[in-house]
Amino acid sequence: MCLEAGIDFDFTIKGSDFIEEMSASLAGSLFGTKPPTFDAAIVNPPYRKISTGSPERLHLRSAGIETSNLYAGFIYLIHRLLAPGGQLVAITPRSFCNGPYFRPFRENLLASLAIQQIHVFESRTAAFRNDGVLQENIIFHAIKGQPQPAEVIISSSSGNHDGAVAQASVAYAEIVRPNDAGKFIHIPSASHHTVAKETMAGLHTSLASLGLSVSTGRVVDFRLKSALRQEPEAGTVPLLYPCHFNGGTVHWPRTDARKPNAILNNAETRPWLVKSGLYLLIKRFTAKEERRRVVACLFDPAEVIAEWVGFENHLNYFHAHGQGLEKNLAVGLYAFLNSTVVDQYFRRFSGHTQVNATDLRQLAYPDRKTLLAIGGEMKQLDQPQNELDQLVEKHLHARP
Ligand SMILES: C[S@@+](CC[C@H](N)C(=O)[O-])C[C@H]1O[C@@H](n2cnc3c(N)ncnc32)[C@H](O)[C@@H]1O
Repeated sequence: MCLEAGIDFDFTIKGSDFIEEMSASLAGSLFGTKPPTFDAAIVNPPYRKISTGSPERLHLRSAGIETSNLYAGFIYLIHRLLAPGGQLVAITPRSFCNGPYFRPFRENLLASLAIQQIHVFESRTAAFRNDGVLQENIIFHAIKGQPQPAEVIISSSSGNHDGAVAQASVAYAEIVRPNDAGKFIHIPSASHHTVAKETMAGLHTSLASLGLSVSTGRVVDFRLKSALRQEPEAGTVPLLYPCHFNGGTVHWPRTDARKPNAILNNAETRPWLVKSGLYLLIKRFTAKEERRRVVACLFDPAEVIAEWVGFENHLNYFHAHGQGLEKNLAVGLYAFLNSTVVDQYFRRFSGHTQVNATDLRQLAYPDRKTLLAIGGEMKQLDQPQNELDQLVEKHLHARP
């Protein structure tokens, strides 16, 4: 094939033990042999546990590598042998992506190799058998000596030879979360991302054309410190923080929480307060272990009786020109924003864990009729994610 394509090709088949030879060469102990360098490595290394005293462990240790699986040993050696800009494509078990044992391996890998693409096989039965145990395998492509890219391609296929590959581009910060000391490698489902992207591409309604706006909570607590009260008292109104979110609705007051529950209602604070009404609240910051990035809850004036209310700066609120929303529209919006489709779409373009009002303003929404229909069909706010998703997707796909 190379001949036909006019490509020079030369090869050497080495019958030696890669672990032994390369460890020695990297350790500098093989009579001064310089380790070889490679521009590219395509590997399907053996997978096998290597015990502490095994020859493989001792060889690797001599090169400063400590690992309990042979495949990790191969990858460690290879990335040391790659030239700057050199590329690696490897098919390995998925096991290194999480867990404490592989943490040093991940740290080392991510510090020296820029992950370009990760391929996963959807069917576990199509994965290779290893000692009679089904292994989940991945293929990854990485380049040495470059910074991590802003986005990584995640692709998936069944694992059978039917050729269909789903592909999505995902923020690197979604794969390896910026503050994760454990450096876990998360691999989102490419097909879900693709469905989310297509579904969202079918939406063309802007928030403004729905007659709605979204703003960041106006109460910046440290600036109004003297007006804050731990518990509600005469002359105060409710102050809402993300800690008041409670499965779709607001739980207020929360005297067990560290945050103040109330704010004085006077001339000084009034510009930062909002006339009470039905508002949709969104957390601006979500913990990295939180299931969803976009977390919405409904502030219902029937449950928290007050004329005015303060929304703290750690949340965003949807409103209609400064007033509350109509019920079914608010509930429809609630379902839409809490859906997996929106969540996955959001994760695609936003690697950070913040949900800013600008992001929500730029999002495309279902039209008013669809939102009202979704809202009308929501029996309760706190419903299982899959039921909420089914309802939202049914309406989004039913659009002409
Ligand atoms: C998963 S198989 C992959 C074979 C082949 N590269 C392919 O993709 O079809 C792993 C191979 O690594 C070889 N192997 C195991 N330990 C090795 C070592 N220390 N040095 C060199 N090759 C080794 C095994 O003999 C086996 O052929």
